[in-house]
Amino acid sequence: MKNKTALIFGVTGQDGAYLSKLLLSKGYNVHGVKRRGSTLNTYRIDDIYSDPLIKKNKFYLHYGDVTDSISVFNIIKKINPDEVYNLAAQSHVAVSFEIPEYTTNADALGTIRILEAIVRVNKKIKFYQAGSSEMFGKVVEKPQNEKTPFYPRSPYGVAKLYSHWITINYRESYNLFASNGILFNHESPLRGETFVTKKIVKGLCKIKLKKQKKLILGNLYSKRDWGHARDYVEAIWKILQHKKPDDFVICTGKQYSIKQFINLVAKQLKLKLFWKGKGINEKAYDQNDKLIIECNKKYLRPSEVDTLQGDYSKAKKQLKWKPKININSLIKDMISYELKLLKR
Ligand code: NAP
Ligand code: GDD
Repeated sequence: MKNKTALIFGVTGQDGAYLSKLLLSKGYNVHGVKRRGSTLNTYRIDDIYSDPLIKKNKFYLHYGDVTDSISVFNIIKKINPDEVYNLAAQSHVAVSFEIPEYTTNADALGTIRILEAIVRVNKKIKFYQAGSSEMFGKVVEKPQNEKTPFYPRSPYGVAKLYSHWITINYRESYNLFASNGILFNHESPLRGETFVTKKIVKGLCKIKLKKQKKLILGNLYSKRDWGHARDYVEAIWKILQHKKPDDFVICTGKQYSIKQFINLVAKQLKLKLFWKGKGINEKAYDQNDKLIIECNKKYLRPSEVDTLQGDYSKAKKQLKWKPKININSLIKDMISYELKLLKR
């Protein structure tokens, strides 16, 4: 049987890097779409792009942008892949309040540009849409599953909800194999620097090594269901291998607050934290009463998603998927990557 060909929009991101590696290990030809920037943005995939042993697995990059219909259409026409994964997005919730129009263009309209190109080029191409637990927003039930009504709380969440429904609409209208993943937060050593887990791990590692004095955060009390990106790209792939197109919640089912996450990281780093104060005035000190963590209004959002906790029963039953990496192993992986970088 001939090797399958996949096309990944958002290949330079956290999930793009893990998914590329997974697909290459399964014998796929992998094509990725990268944006042109004034600085290089390929650090997460440089190892697979430059390694000659892996290069023979056929990993290709193309310039493109999901806000540019011409590049989207041309790339899909040229590659005519078996599977398209749409991971491309302005993925930062707080930033989506600052650049709402661009976020909508990339995260909502980007999806319809890809779907339209698929309809025109080849309706047999399978399509994966990177949906988000942010669509549950101000949650109406706990835990959240595929039947939970949505209530997005940010321009990002609203844009992702458009993409969710347009994917279903194209599936029903044109009989496409188009599926949505509804993924809860997932992290890794390759997580973007401004997301809270990476910021905490990096900040506390630097404080431990005396390379930074304090860490400034926002809301310490929101709760998230955090998994490992390595587990989640396995689910993404399984969603497109399922016998029929469908929508799946991918999560761990466990939730922790930001403060609990900080305490777990501090424990692994053997940093003793003493918390004082409440709300935006809550602060953490070390055993010498030195200030290590404080909060600033700058990092609060106009509207917050207070709690997310998913139920992955459907994925477990139908995809035979479940998370393998727990929160402490995730943190261990992130810390060891960070310490290695800092000690280099
Ligand atoms: P990420 O690290 O921010 O990666 C996003 C990718 O999209 C990057 O490759 C980025 O390119 C690319 N991109 C941004 N705007 C683009 C545009 N206009 N045209 C083409 N590419 C563009 O995000 P991630 O954590 O890997 O997440 C992957 C996808 O899953 C995203 O759609 C995200 O919204 C969604 N999601 C993530 C999570 C999570 O917890 N990680 C949970 C649910 C859903 P540059 O490298 O050039 O910026
Ligand atoms: N980024 C950030 N920075 N968040 C902070 C900070 C800070 O300094 N301090 C507290 N937080 C809180 C946020 O207010 C939010 O409640 C929580 O930490 C998580 O923030 P992020 O790590 O930025 O992730 P997110 O939950 O908003 O969004 C991520 O997960 C979504 C899935 O639910 C992103 O990856 C989205 O792309 C993804 O769809």
